[in-house]
Amino acid sequence: MKVDGKDLRPIWPHEDQVTVQVIDQRRLPHEFVVLDINSVDDCIHAIEEMVVRGAPLIGVTAAYGVYLAALTAVSQSDPDVFFKKECRRIKAARPTAVNLAWAVDRVARAVETAVDPKYRARQANAEAERIAEEEADNCRKIGEHGVTLIETVREKKGGAPVNILTHCNAGWLACIECGTATAPMYMAFEKGIDIHVWVDETRPLNQGARLTAWELGKCGIAHTVITDNAGGHLMQHGMVDLVIVGTDRTTGTGDVANKIGTYLKALAARDNDVPFYVALPSSTFDWDLTDGVSQIPIEKRDPDEVRIVEGRDNSVSRRVLVPPADSPAVNYAFDVTPARLVTGFITERGICRATTEDIRRLFPEKATPDIA
Ligand code: MRU
Repeated sequence: MKVDGKDLRPIWPHEDQVTVQVIDQRRLPHEFVVLDINSVDDCIHAIEEMVVRGAPLIGVTAAYGVYLAALTAVSQSDPDVFFKKECRRIKAARPTAVNLAWAVDRVARAVETAVDPKYRARQANAEAERIAEEEADNCRKIGEHGVTLIETVREKKGGAPVNILTHCNAGWLACIECGTATAPMYMAFEKGIDIHVWVDETRPLNQGARLTAWELGKCGIAHTVITDNAGGHLMQHGMVDLVIVGTDRTTGTGDVANKIGTYLKALAARDNDVPFYVALPSSTFDWDLTDGVSQIPIEKRDPDEVRIVEGRDNSVSRRVLVPPADSPAVNYAFDVTPARLVTGFITERGICRATTEDIRRLFPEKATPDIA
């Protein structure tokens, strides 16, 4: 994506071939800082601390982490044992986004026949780059399919602006290019369709207010930041035509894990007959699971993320405690929206309803779990 006229991705390999560089998303929108990832520890730190975040980007970062593990393995006494142990450590960095384990397994599988550790490292690097390019391409295709939904609404409204609500950040910062949920928005904007995006602030870490608003603003897309609780009110008053969100893990039966609060948006959308779409690449489907609520692991993060709000006070960054100092807090990072509340999925292969049968029609080669 272009930011201030420059082509940018949230992750890229440095030309020295032993460093991966990422945009530090904790510092946006007020500071633009690039961090180096030189080791598996750096990679795990970046994922855990949400320097990088968003399911596809977590996957690509993990893939490069496997490359760094393969590189370090070259000088170890038992390279194979070391490499496998490092892959396991990367996989454990965050629990909910399935792209993490998917990407580690894919790179590990691609190099499993490599006997020479140096050759293994080269192969791992090539596979990580392939994953990054594929995810970029998936996002573009999601945009092409998803824009048809926006065009349909525009026709129904006789050309009046199309109001889209999104939650968290499923934009290019969370992916590689143009995002998942935002890809149809960028495409609509390019086609000259009048759109306006309601951006949920997305407490506690404000990925919507900080990241989605920044992204859309840099591209000139009209948007308004709202509190997480405003969506239902806007829907009741006809101010939302379409909801499009991303996901961290979606079962083969259509249950959707995404940033905490997504479920409440889906309930409000159903009550108000507002179409609720989930945009995702195939790497975010977990083909082994049949019931999202009971089977998808939900990350619990540091309660201080709820208790303390971060922001800018003139030009100074501040952390401010909100509740009484001795009030406990709990921080569930994701929730699960059952398939019955999802109007459809926008994938790189097209749009389908949120049913096992329809998902299977788009991805016939994937083993679909038997429903108990
Ligand atoms: O905790 P985060 O910021 O990693 O959560 C991100 C989300 O919930 C996104 O909506 C999801 O990963 C989809 S990204 C295309």
